[in-house]
Amino acid sequence: MNLKNNLILMFVIAIISCSTANYYFTEKQSVNIIPKPNKIKVNKGEFVINNETKIITDDTSAINQNVINSLNNVLLRTVGYKLEIVCNVESGSNSIKLNFVENDFGNEGYQLKIDETGITISGNYAGLFYGVQTLLQLLPPEIFGTEKNGNLALIVPFVDIEDVPRFAWRGMHLDVGRHMFPIDFIKKYIDYLAFHKLNVFHWHLTEDQGWRIEIKKYPKLTEISAFRNETIVGHHSTNPQKFDRKKYGGFYTQEEIKEVVKYASERFITVVPEIEMPGHAIAALAAYPELSCTGGPFDVRTSWGISDDIFCAGNENTFEFLENVLSEVVELFPSKFIHIGGDEAPKTRWHECPKCQKRISDENFADEHELQSYFIQRIEKYLNSKGKEIIGWDEILEGGLAPNAAVMSWRGNSGGIEAAKQKHNVVMAPTTHCYFDYYQTENKDNEPLSIGGFLPLEKVYSFNPIPSELTKEEAKFIIGAQANVWTEYMPNPKQVEYMAFPRMSALAEVVWTNNENKNFNDFLSRMGFQYKRFDAMKINYFKARK
Ligand code: ACM
Ligand code: ZN
Repeated sequence: MNLKNNLILMFVIAIISCSTANYYFTEKQSVNIIPKPNKIKVNKGEFVINNETKIITDDTSAINQNVINSLNNVLLRTVGYKLEIVCNVESGSNSIKLNFVENDFGNEGYQLKIDETGITISGNYAGLFYGVQTLLQLLPPEIFGTEKNGNLALIVPFVDIEDVPRFAWRGMHLDVGRHMFPIDFIKKYIDYLAFHKLNVFHWHLTEDQGWRIEIKKYPKLTEISAFRNETIVGHHSTNPQKFDRKKYGGFYTQEEIKEVVKYASERFITVVPEIEMPGHAIAALAAYPELSCTGGPFDVRTSWGISDDIFCAGNENTFEFLENVLSEVVELFPSKFIHIGGDEAPKTRWHECPKCQKRISDENFADEHELQSYFIQRIEKYLNSKGKEIIGWDEILEGGLAPNAAVMSWRGNSGGIEAAKQKHNVVMAPTTHCYFDYYQTENKDNEPLSIGGFLPLEKVYSFNPIPSELTKEEAKFIIGAQANVWTEYMPNPKQVEYMAFPRMSALAEVVWTNNENKNFNDFLSRMGFQYKRFDAMKINYFKARK
């Protein structure tokens, strides 16, 4: 063998031994955590969880119990036992120690150490929760199953993990206006978010095609606005349009909403409700046509798209109505942010409406965009008075941003860039990388009908929520990102899962893992394991066809 071959051989041996050292666990089960922890070292050795393993904690608070439940509920479901909780002991080697530390890893970061002395998770409560989620991902994928599996060996490798998320807002949106899903599925969706260490569930509750939240003061919102007479069949662009002649609808009661909010908070997820205004309001206007510019009448919409009829901005009753609605909304949702929509509100009616035009003239506004800005600012003032902040789609920049508003940038990055430059908080959700209603393959003919577009896993993964146009200071206003799931073409939970997965996993890594730790091929290799978890969870995920 000549020198060159020798060197190559040495190099190959070095790589193999190096990877063996780092991935000792590979022979049995490799470490495949998604989103990838920001600092991870896999060591030689392993720990076995069994029914003698104790959880050590001195904290008897309900919030700490949520952390413990997130482990014990999974174990109970799949291996049939829960771990006993013991207080006031220093340590024991067959133990999982939950070590509350307020600030060492920020609000949501954690440290997970597994060695001869047992398992120790350190962090603030959310961090402890994420530490448990990581621990679960070190276990075999079957741990996420829905049935008992008595043979499952709960072996985890020795690791040293220190992990802090990149962004504070790590979200998934779900539109329940176009199609609505049972509370059980909403909870499942929240479980999927928690599994991915996502922490915001943006619940899009009102639409042209259905109003989904019970408002006690306005019973017609649930009697009339929550139901449409029929639904378009096939793609919206089909000509002529066909309809299914089936009444469709429903709504979530305030009790159900409280249940969802509680369920989410137990998983360290904030539910941000969206009440759309001034556009996407036909369902509300069908019940209260006097709040439109023309007086109606209107039917709850049966096809998709944008409507010219929106709330009248010249009518004081509109503001009284919306403030009354919001007064009930703020009581239901502890979230700091309330999403007020603001997108796709054509100014056609306002342009013709004497009341809207009178307001424009009385207030010396230049145009209808300034009237929209007035509308949003009034609502902002009201919500600020209730201790809340508003977030709206990037159209709320038009005519001037409300003083404290956060912006959700969806028509590309430009709205987000502009808002960050104006020192407003921004959540990035551009159609280019974050619209999970787009197709996942170019082979569209073999796919269930979707709105259009093409957003493959790799493109989601490539997303950087911080646009290069921003300075370091401006970039601080990008508080995170989310993906949107608009459900015109998702009539049931199975189809929501099909569109959300596996892309949710890529999004999770976009918002959690620092850029320098991301690598698509490495992600793909971990996804091999993730698909087994999805199988265990019985998720109906998209599989690329060859
Ligand atoms: C949107 O997609 N209309 C925000
Ligand atoms: Zn008007």
